[in-house]
Amino acid sequence: PFIQPPQVEWASGALTKGPLLRKSTRIRDLIGIFADDPARQRLAGEHVVYDVEILATSPAEGELYTGVTHLYPGRVGDEYFMTRGHFHARREQGEVYFGLRGNGLLLLQNEQGQARLESVCAGSIHIIPGFTAHRLINTGSEVLSALAVWPGVAGHDYAALAKGFTLRVFEENQQIQVREAQNE
Ligand code: 6PG
Ligand code: NI
Repeated sequence: PFIQPPQVEWASGALTKGPLLRKSTRIRDLIGIFADDPARQRLAGEHVVYDVEILATSPAEGELYTGVTHLYPGRVGDEYFMTRGHFHARREQGEVYFGLRGNGLLLLQNEQGQARLESVCAGSIHIIPGFTAHRLINTGSEVLSALAVWPGVAGHDYAALAKGFTLRVFEENQQIQVREAQNE
């Protein structure tokens, strides 16, 4: 007699029982995102960098979206795989990320270009305020999965980050290295 709601399998981040939208982002989609674009071009274009699954719920004002990002391990040159990253089109709208599995970083950057990095792991909670761009980075050797909840009206503004984030994260001598981005 009870409604069976959608479910997330905490260990893997798999969403089940819900009407789902799915999107894969591949190496060939990420032009100009990594510092070493020639290194990106040497990789197989069809290789999936991350998958996003979103519960197909209402986008109306006041409603919330729920989705899971699975960011695969890998590097473009020495730079770790990462999501494209965005401000919300409705800049004031925030978001919450919850780490589910794997190890990585959440790169946050305000409109003044000040950036900070939060460690993402199973159980981590990340409060992304409004007016803050966000990008996941997989610094580990396993899949990094994170659950997110954000307003349906938030939208995405990728163009506002055309000059990129001010920090980049690389692997150097098996260590995580954070560098200030070169003015591109
Ligand atoms: C959102 C969320 C999240 C994000 C994905 C992919 O606002 O929709 O932050 O679902 O979109 O992690 O990241 P990109 O949108 O930056 O490719
Ligand atoms: Ni977002």
